[in-house]
Amino acid sequence: MDWRIFHKEETDSTNNDAKAGVHGDVFTASFQTAGRGRLDHKWLSRRGDNLMMSAVLDVGGLDVAHAATLPLAVGLAVVNAVSRLLGPSADVKLKWTNDVYVSGRKISGILCERCGDNVIVGIGVNVRQKVFAEEISARAVSLALLGVDAAVDDVRDRVLGELARVYATWREGGFEAVYDAIAAVDWLKGREVRVVQTDSDRAGISGICAGIARNGAVIVGDEEIWAGEARVIAR
Ligand code: BTN
Repeated sequence: MDWRIFHKEETDSTNNDAKAGVHGDVFTASFQTAGRGRLDHKWLSRRGDNLMMSAVLDVGGLDVAHAATLPLAVGLAVVNAVSRLLGPSADVKLKWTNDVYVSGRKISGILCERCGDNVIVGIGVNVRQKVFAEEISARAVSLALLGVDAAVDDVRDRVLGELARVYATWREGGFEAVYDAIAAVDWLKGREVRVVQTDSDRAGISGICAGIARNGAVIVGDEEIWAGEARVIAR
């Protein structure tokens, strides 16, 4: 797949820039003034230190259930890229739907937004940042903190290489074609979790996670949950 890369030194959010894009376009920035995460969270990233990019992928013509699993496939692509950078002994996992964790700390967040026939795939990877805001510092990690000295552009190219491969497999063979690889890196399976729909969702759905279903939902207790954010209940 031939990606076309458009870089800005500063933007509000690369996901906003990508709204003007077509399949295969990739929008990157050294700094975002209004970086977004899921559930309307902010995505804060130091200027020039980390990968912030949004790729435009076509899901036109796919049925709704197939298209809905793209975020998991994207998560797998980032897991693969981070695993290759860190080497075989690293514990790189996918937290449904698509956060990437290394030894229990978040190294990447992904925000997928539908835009007509396209999905804007926004990917943030912590590359060179070594100090994080106090409220997330215990939960965040970067390649640099894990001893890998990588250039942001190198990480971009590796993630895009994996994304092209995984997207082609997923598009051709459906979620089934990437399911086993995703199940093998599932971080939540066997853990006690609470899945919330919003930050103010006090109740959520709690229970032991039985893993990711073959349709892309997460299974908590005997419920299949399609959307939301899973939080591990620390004991
Ligand atoms: C999350 O963890 O909740 C998702 C974070 C997604 C961050 C990336 S950085 C590039 C792209 N632009 C944004 O505003 N968000 C995504």
